[in-house]
Amino acid sequence: MRLQGRAAWITGAAQGLGEALAYRLAQEGCRGLALSDVQAERLQAVADAVHAQHPHCHTLALPCDVRLEAEVQHAARQIDQQFGRLDILIANAGVIHSAEITEMSLEQWQWQLDVNLTGYFLCAREAAKLMRRQGKGVILQINSKSGLKGSYKNCAYAASKFGGVGLTQSIAMDLAPYGIRVNAVCPGNLLDSPMWQETLFEQYARKWGLPEEAVRRYYEAQTPLGRGCAYDDVANLVVFLASDEASYITGEAYRVAGGQL
Ligand SMILES: NC(=O)c1ccc[n+]([C@@H]2O[C@H](COP(=O)([O-])OP(=O)(O)OC[C@H]3O[C@@H](n4cnc5c(N)ncnc54)[C@H](O)[C@@H]3O)[C@@H](O)[C@H]2O)c1
Repeated sequence: MRLQGRAAWITGAAQGLGEALAYRLAQEGCRGLALSDVQAERLQAVADAVHAQHPHCHTLALPCDVRLEAEVQHAARQIDQQFGRLDILIANAGVIHSAEITEMSLEQWQWQLDVNLTGYFLCAREAAKLMRRQGKGVILQINSKSGLKGSYKNCAYAASKFGGVGLTQSIAMDLAPYGIRVNAVCPGNLLDSPMWQETLFEQYARKWGLPEEAVRRYYEAQTPLGRGCAYDDVANLVVFLASDEASYITGEAYRVAGGQL
């Protein structure tokens, strides 16, 4: 219960890591959880399920495309009206498309920059306006190990995530005077996530010229701790950074990657 009574906003919460973080934040005592995603139906189902499991936690499904300024501003207004405050933003919505640079279309490049970087900027900006009033708040970006080291056939994703580290470091300085801390969490390979199951195993089999069933072993073997990243590995750090135990930490980007790199 390290986040008792907090109001939080998680983007990209209809599935995967964002959904797992919603359950974990409710379990840690959050009293209000605003969840955003472009998949409106799935998002409502997650909001209902989290509330059913944690009745103390008021959940709010706020469908929103993080690329669109008006939608992000509308979501922030809803949060203000419903919760009257915002303590934690987790900017988690993210997309990836793997391709060598000569095969990366401008559209694919722009999509990843727009969701992963501009989306983080817009949500952080609107969250900061609410948090500033309280003189306290925590902004966390779910970044990636690819935000700290270049990634083969992933130029757009890595560029967008590197940008997220620059944004994190910079706004940590802008927002420190208001008591708002800003950090990034950089997970390794969440091999059981929909991102891997639905797209990356297939894309990476092509990228490395491996059969699809060999891709998991390939990535596990690259990780000194010998396994993929689990949602809880990320959530443990997210909860710590969101809590007052991390009150002297801002402007950082931490890997949770099993020793990879
Ligand atoms: N899966 C991994 O191995 C891995 C590793 C490192 C970092 N990450 C990062 O973790 C975060 C979550 O990834 P995941 O694995 O849960 O992926 P995921 O694809 O399962 O979930 C991402 C969610 O974001 C939503 N989304 C996409 N575009 C959006 C938009 N424009 N506006 C609002 N929501 C949008 C999707 O609908 C989806 O629900 C991402 O930022 C990703 O870059 C993932």
